[in-house]
Amino acid sequence: MNYLFFLGRVRDISLAELDVVLRRFHATQPPEEVIPGIVRADVDASADELMSILGGTIKIAEVLEISASTITADLQERVVEVLAGFGTQGEKLVFSLAELGRGSSDHIGADEVKDALREKLQANIRYIESPQEGLGAAQLTHHKIHEIYVIQQGEVTLIAKIMAAQDIDAWGKRDFGKPYRDPKKGMLPPKLARMMVNLAVQDSDPAKMTIFDPFCGSGTVLMEALLMGCAVIGSDIDKDAVHGTGANLAWFSKAFNTAPADALGVQDATNIMLADIKKQVDCIVTEPFLGRPNPTLAQLPNVMKGLEKMYLGVFKSFRSLLKPGGRISVVIPAFAVGESVKTLNSLIDRLETLGYTREKGPFTYTRPQTTVQRQIFVYRVKG
Ligand SMILES: C[S@@+](CC[C@H](N)C(=O)[O-])C[C@H]1O[C@@H](n2cnc3c(N)ncnc32)[C@H](O)[C@@H]1O
Repeated sequence: MNYLFFLGRVRDISLAELDVVLRRFHATQPPEEVIPGIVRADVDASADELMSILGGTIKIAEVLEISASTITADLQERVVEVLAGFGTQGEKLVFSLAELGRGSSDHIGADEVKDALREKLQANIRYIESPQEGLGAAQLTHHKIHEIYVIQQGEVTLIAKIMAAQDIDAWGKRDFGKPYRDPKKGMLPPKLARMMVNLAVQDSDPAKMTIFDPFCGSGTVLMEALLMGCAVIGSDIDKDAVHGTGANLAWFSKAFNTAPADALGVQDATNIMLADIKKQVDCIVTEPFLGRPNPTLAQLPNVMKGLEKMYLGVFKSFRSLLKPGGRISVVIPAFAVGESVKTLNSLIDRLETLGYTREKGPFTYTRPQTTVQRQIFVYRVKG
């Protein structure tokens, strides 16, 4: 199947995630950019299945026509044919239309499409006007709308239909519905946690992987990994967090029908031994302590020094916990100071000598007005 993937707000990490997930389904070519934020790829999987795996893709469209024509009347005719293929004689059909990359050429007439469909299907046809970039996932999740995209890509015009959109209710339920939340500590957005899990698992079968989060906080990573079919282990230095994560996972396994987590314990991540988690794991996916939320310029050198020391201890202890070739998908903080960004350089430079190879990143995930930025890296244990 030839698909278009509509990437989320943080495009580079969404694209990196998509690339590894497509390889899990034996795609042979990396996704190619059609226009900024939309990529195209061939993969043998359903749009629904892909959507249930990806954290960073908002919508998936299937390319149904590739036309050598750029003439609006021709394309309009093809759009009618495509939509009619999804309709049933005498049954109401709701559609929406978005055109991208077609420059200043005249536009497909929604009213003409509507009239032609009414005639073909002998049915009530409704057109929903959308913003130029198309409908949001919420509208598509809550209403049965056939959304068509007409996109110019070089010499050809693609006609594609949205087949799956992110289930924003399920994402929101995991983010805001869990019984234990501690916003003061900074919780990972579930979509970012999912992308980090996928980047760690890469093209392996998630059902054969064990994921460990030694800074589990409220358990966001563990929940996303469980949904992917991974076995999970979590720990945290704070007993309230361990207790709260236990409550969240109990709620979650009922709400999302997943297996319970393996083990949870109170542990200092800088000092974890293999005996503490009993067996080596395939991946560590974690957002460690990122320091105080908004350090002042004067506090920053000490904050960074303290974090560097903690991260160094953590990476040293992780070495024995991972299987050979195991991966770490980790948040390392960076700090916005005016126009520049300060990173934990000396830590990042030392990781090679500690036996880690950087495979991906950094991908920056930040919100406006915040000093502390999340940078996501993927490391692999050498040898
Ligand atoms: C940024 S929060 C992680 C939040 C988590 N990703 C979530 O979405 O809920 C960092 C966590 O690290 C824990 N922590 C701080 N120092 C630690 C240490 N040395 N070992 C283990 N956990 C630690 C804190 O208690 C906190 O729960």
